[in-house]
Amino acid sequence: MARRKYVVGNWKMNGLRESLDEAGAIFAAAAEHPSVDVALCPPFTLVGAMAAAAPGAAVGGQDCHAAASGAYTGSVAAAMLVDAGARIVIVGHSERREGCGESDADVKAKAEAGLGAGLDVILCVGEPRKIRESGGAIDFVLAQVRESLPDSFDPTRLAIAYEPIWAIGTGLVPTTEDVAAMHGSIRAALSERIGAGAEKMRLLYGGSVNGDNAAELLGAGDVDGALVGGASLTAGKFLPIVAAGAALS
Ligand code: 13P
Repeated sequence: MARRKYVVGNWKMNGLRESLDEAGAIFAAAAEHPSVDVALCPPFTLVGAMAAAAPGAAVGGQDCHAAASGAYTGSVAAAMLVDAGARIVIVGHSERREGCGESDADVKAKAEAGLGAGLDVILCVGEPRKIRESGGAIDFVLAQVRESLPDSFDPTRLAIAYEPIWAIGTGLVPTTEDVAAMHGSIRAALSERIGAGAEKMRLLYGGSVNGDNAAELLGAGDVDGALVGGASLTAGKFLPIVAAGAALS
């Protein structure tokens, strides 16, 4: 089935209020490519202002807590993101799995919290370099997918982002054959788990995506979009990726 291309910017811990102009430029130009779904996930501090400045635009958080509220200093609940104007949330990014010790069970609980609050979820998986080199990448990632997925979910509201850790921020990218093999394996595992609904799920690739490699990566088998870090911070770098998605739509 035809799945709409989905190009998402993850600003990570970058951006001040002065960056809102850049986001405005991105959303305005992205509207010229209506065949592509575009979203930006700024730091929590900018979610409300970015959503307010671009009504109708898809703004998201980069994480949420699994609980609805409570004594969790420094954390943000999914309902708070909704309240600030967010429509989506990223969960399970490797910078949180590795840097904050998040387990598959934690990621699953966060995904369930996000969906429960009404957010669409982007659930990240990806292998470290040593696992890729040992030939175990597919088994490693499929285990993450199986253990992190909510027990039940609407397949149109949950996307999986495959982000090999060794490709993030390094300028290294897997071959298109390796990306297609991974995405095909993820789709097959999803199909085993949820049946025909797996065809509706969007699988994004992330890791050093830029304007030069986007057409090839987005054109690989079972790749429905991109989760973009560094190249999402400016309209000049992000829009060619959106345009590459539109050209394939
Ligand atoms: P880069 O595009 O900077 O490699 O980051 C990818 C990523 O981690 C997006 O979530």
